[in-house]
Amino acid sequence: MGRNLIVKNISHIVTPVGSNAVFGKEMAKLKIIENGAIIIEEGIIKCVGKESEILKNIDEKQYEILDCKGNAVLPGFVDSHTHFIFGGYREDEFSWRLRGDSYMSIMERGGGIVNTVNHTREASFDELYNLGKERIDTMIDFGVTTVEGKSGYGLDLDTEIKQLEVMEKLNNHSDIDVAITFMGAHATPSEYKGKEEEYVDFIIKKVLPMVKGKAEFCDVFCEKNVFSIEQSRRILEEGKKLGFKPKLHADEIVTLGGSELSGEVKAISADHLLQASDKGIEAMRDNKVVSTLLPCTAFSLKESYARGREMIDKGCAVALASDLNPGSCFTNSIPLLIALSTIYMNLSIEEVITALTLNGAAAIDRAAKIGSIEEGKMGDLIVLKYPSYKFLPYNIGVNQVKNVVKGGKVIKR
Ligand code: NIG
Ligand code: FE
Repeated sequence: MGRNLIVKNISHIVTPVGSNAVFGKEMAKLKIIENGAIIIEEGIIKCVGKESEILKNIDEKQYEILDCKGNAVLPGFVDSHTHFIFGGYREDEFSWRLRGDSYMSIMERGGGIVNTVNHTREASFDELYNLGKERIDTMIDFGVTTVEGKSGYGLDLDTEIKQLEVMEKLNNHSDIDVAITFMGAHATPSEYKGKEEEYVDFIIKKVLPMVKGKAEFCDVFCEKNVFSIEQSRRILEEGKKLGFKPKLHADEIVTLGGSELSGEVKAISADHLLQASDKGIEAMRDNKVVSTLLPCTAFSLKESYARGREMIDKGCAVALASDLNPGSCFTNSIPLLIALSTIYMNLSIEEVITALTLNGAAAIDRAAKIGSIEEGKMGDLIVLKYPSYKFLPYNIGVNQVKNVVKGGKVIKR
């Protein structure tokens, strides 16, 4: 079904440029078109430019019109790292953490991910689907037009498949796109306690072949006392043979070498990176791995932030994402993410916009299709409540997204 839309009366169209991840100081370079308009046909951007030029010979009656009333337009945000399909909540664990317990100590005594695994195993397909749909509605409200979601709260074949199929259905039946990641190596389930190596074998031999075609990416929680470098390497290499693109939760709690591993296996992204070493940063840069930073998780865990400023200065491609999950980061607030990355991580708002759009798209291998407002890309964009994108860090913690367009369809009015 074709969707023809003209977006007009735009103070500034603000967008990164290109079909690939943007590295280093290029991240701060945005294209800005004043008094712009955008023509979208059949869901794809047909023309972007000055309104006075591009609408001159157009019969506007053939299109739906979105009047931006002199406000700024950006590409839709890409939330490239979430765990949004889960059953149950962990509000007690959050209180314990406020009292001083660490995330890993709660995990070691049977809380954490395994707690959510129990609830997710019990939840029906429809329960998870409805929860997922509600969570997608909050994402749209914040301007997210594409989201990545991971399994990893099943840790058995049936529940992992259930999570992946819920995401597939949401991809087909919600207003935004869902990029799907298999993360069976998120934790070792209780039935394999003390038999971690057997669990890794189970994932490789039994689960990976069964989820082939149900997920595009394979991710591993590479962390001390979770999955080692060797185990992570094995899983990702076996996954690659089956066609999964590798991703990694790397160097989140301790410096284990996950960032270096991401370079070695040519991962599409390495994520978290709070404790990434200098060598790890160079490995990501040299191997064109997107460095995905999740400042809301650092904030929620009261940990220090990843060295995003240094990563960009050293030439990395940085993406920013929410990490929405029921444990380490129960928020998908884009306004909070923008506040933390500008005020505490010293990223410029221009870099943050690139990180949340084109580099987020690159982190899920979609930079050729989404992430910027350019001819030939999908008609995914947001209209702000203000004429300048500079309000994004300035009007702290407030949702400034007035309208959202996905593939030429207005999904937030
Ligand atoms: O990305 N670090 C590992 N996994 C998730 C947390 C999952 C959970 O606590 O439920 C994360 O932070
Ligand atoms: Fe995560």
